Amino acid sequence: MTAVGIDAIEIRTGKLKLDLAETFAPAKEEDPKKYTKGLGLEASSFPDTYEDIVTMGANAAKRLMDRKGLVPDDIGRIDVATESAFDNSKPVSTYIAGCLEDVYDGDFHHANKGERKFACVAATQSVDDAYNWIRAGRNRGRAALVIATDTALYARGDPGEATQGAGAVAMLVDEEPSLVEISTEQGYGSADETDFLKPNQQFPSVDGKRSVKVYLARMREALEDFETVAGRTHPDGFAYIPFHTPFPGMVRKAALLGFRHMTRNTDIEDDLEGEIGRQPRQDDYEDWDAYEDAIREYMDLLKETDRYETWYNRTIDPTLTFSRKVGNWYTGSVHVARASALKTAAETGRALSGERLLVGSYGSGAQAEMHAETVADGWREEIEALDFKEQLSRRYDLSFEEYGRVHDAHNHEKERELEEFTVPSGEFVFTGWGRMNERTYEYVE
Ligand code: HMG
Repeated sequence: MTAVGIDAIEIRTGKLKLDLAETFAPAKEEDPKKYTKGLGLEASSFPDTYEDIVTMGANAAKRLMDRKGLVPDDIGRIDVATESAFDNSKPVSTYIAGCLEDVYDGDFHHANKGERKFACVAATQSVDDAYNWIRAGRNRGRAALVIATDTALYARGDPGEATQGAGAVAMLVDEEPSLVEISTEQGYGSADETDFLKPNQQFPSVDGKRSVKVYLARMREALEDFETVAGRTHPDGFAYIPFHTPFPGMVRKAALLGFRHMTRNTDIEDDLEGEIGRQPRQDDYEDWDAYEDAIREYMDLLKETDRYETWYNRTIDPTLTFSRKVGNWYTGSVHVARASALKTAAETGRALSGERLLVGSYGSGAQAEMHAETVADGWREEIEALDFKEQLSRRYDLSFEEYGRVHDAHNHEKERELEEFTVPSGEFVFTGWGRMNERTYEYVE
């Protein structure tokens, strides 16, 4: 069977930065450690006034097409995953295709375009759709372009404000991929939940504490469902486990739960017995609350063990390096986490070809999905081509007062006029509104 997976990836950050420890915490009169240690975040990315989900997506896609030497005729499908769309009818993919058609010979008239919505899990679903389209033999030799793009803003003063972010990830899904081969091993945890939603409003309604619990519950279901297809998982069976990362502290919780689940009835549980005892078994407790208390106590001990720390530092921590610096990008976040891990591996000279990844995606509302991938032979060259670190170092560092004005400028219900902070060069920019209230764009040399 021909391998199908992600052949190339490009990441585009919003060009502004809000430093959480230096700028946000003092203005909020909070201890900076709440953000840097508690949530695990250093900064958030924001779009400049001429950036939005279309420009970030189109700029990521253009860099990917240029780097891979692609023209429109090579792409048979453009799917955009977003929860920041500004149009309930015309998909963002048409705007992005329009931008790209301005700079390439040829067009995308032959390409099937769409928009996927299921909170943050939608980009993984789009990759899945692309995989299935190719597997079904309907791609006529063409590849699929999947673009995750979001401006993840919360209302001012919302507890989620510290976890904001903005950026896009473009992925080329193709046969014989250079980055990762996607497997058919996949599991879901899906339920009707009201933890985070945007009922026809720009900023989300969030029950933050509950959203954390729902994330963990659905992720656990997805892992159990994954195991019904792939067999029992073992923590050493995967080089990295990139999770959806609203903030690194969330992943810390998910990783500990996952490790406990995976080590139950294994050599690792046996090895740790002398140090922290065996995992509590439900049958040994009279009620659920007592069992949960015992589990919590066991996990508190587990996370302090060398065995866990070594595993966490090797398998999870490298997935969080990028996220710490950019915040939550919603649909792009899990794909940023994968890229972060691969980039770390390249920088530290780790051999990865043929190694497996377990990817845990999540979207509020709520659905978790877990699937396995195999790192392909061309991964190092692909990941070394990213210029993401340079983009991060070029971001304009906002003062708190400037941050307030940028937030207002992107607020659909407020005054939109604001001078840009950076100078656009070699990129698509937002230019205003057309006669039917459509957003308009141009390429600036
Ligand atoms: P909060 O209530 O302001 O923060 O907001 P907190 O008081 O819970 O503190 C956060 C952590 O910092 C805690 O750690 C504190 O102990 C610690 P924990 O106990 O959880 O491990 N802390 C400190 N640590 C060191 N020094 C200090 C200090 N002070 C506190 N001085 C909350 C937290 C997550 C609720 C908020 O950020 C929020 O509402 N975020 C938005 C929702 C969210 O991101 N949920 C995550 C799961 S849902 C999801 O991922 C989906 C999503 O991406 C959307 C989608 O799918 O589309 C959001």
